[in-house]
Amino acid sequence: MSITIKNESDIAGMRVACRLAAEVLDHLAPHIKPGVTTLEIDRLAADYMAQQGTRSATIGYQPPGYPPYPGHLCTSVNHVVCHGIPSEKKLKKGDIINLDVTVITQDGWHGDTSRMFEVGKCSIAATRLCALTYEAMWLGITQIRPGAHLGDIGHAIQQFAEGHGLSVVREFCGHGIGQVFHEEPQVLHYGSPGTGVKLEPGMIFTVEPMLNTGRREIREMPDGWTIVTKDRSLSAQWEHTVVVTPGGYEVLTLSAGSPAIPEFAQATVDA
Ligand code: MF3
Ligand code: CO
Ligand code: CO
Repeated sequence: MSITIKNESDIAGMRVACRLAAEVLDHLAPHIKPGVTTLEIDRLAADYMAQQGTRSATIGYQPPGYPPYPGHLCTSVNHVVCHGIPSEKKLKKGDIINLDVTVITQDGWHGDTSRMFEVGKCSIAATRLCALTYEAMWLGITQIRPGAHLGDIGHAIQQFAEGHGLSVVREFCGHGIGQVFHEEPQVLHYGSPGTGVKLEPGMIFTVEPMLNTGRREIREMPDGWTIVTKDRSLSAQWEHTVVVTPGGYEVLTLSAGSPAIPEFAQATVDA
């Protein structure tokens, strides 16, 4: 197995898939309120994907050693790091939640993106964690250009996160994506500059850091999917799918409802 280089027609297919994934999040955003259950969010996501003519890449997804994933998206609340399973539990004021959506278009392209949402007013610590994790993702993304290395992305994220007293989850990483949901390369959210795979135009991968307010260690729940912080501290994650372009990068998972791009990234966005 090796890293696939996407051609212009592949990238056109990925642009569509990725925008559609982001638009699922746009559609869900106004529904993220106290009292809604994550299973209701799952239903809204499923219905909207049907309207789009996409399907969920997560429902029934079963990597070796895992049970089939039961949700149309992942809903990870508070100390849940990732892969939270939609349930009857209601959101309450002060919760933070990550919604992670991956759609597959009719021609087989995958778009993968996630955002944090604050349920009503949250603690200063929770709001700060969400904002800093967003900034960390963009600091990673802005390293991307031909000739840069994957380690540059990881290093930028790790240095920023740890400099702000947050820890970086090590067990999960970004990934190549295209006709396959998870493909090479692995995109670590920690590392050293100048190490790892050298980037080339046409590579497409996600950047999706998970940062914790406490220690970095995680635990898997008995359902075989849900990942939580071992110390039950809060965790946040944001995710974009990005293509390496001759001039730098293009973020594919942007939509009308995407949160504002940080000032430092605007000069480098190659769209
Ligand atoms: N969307 C996740 C990612 O960013 C993967 C979720 S797999 C699932 O890679 F089975 F948990 F849904
Ligand atoms: Co995802
Ligand atoms: Co992903």
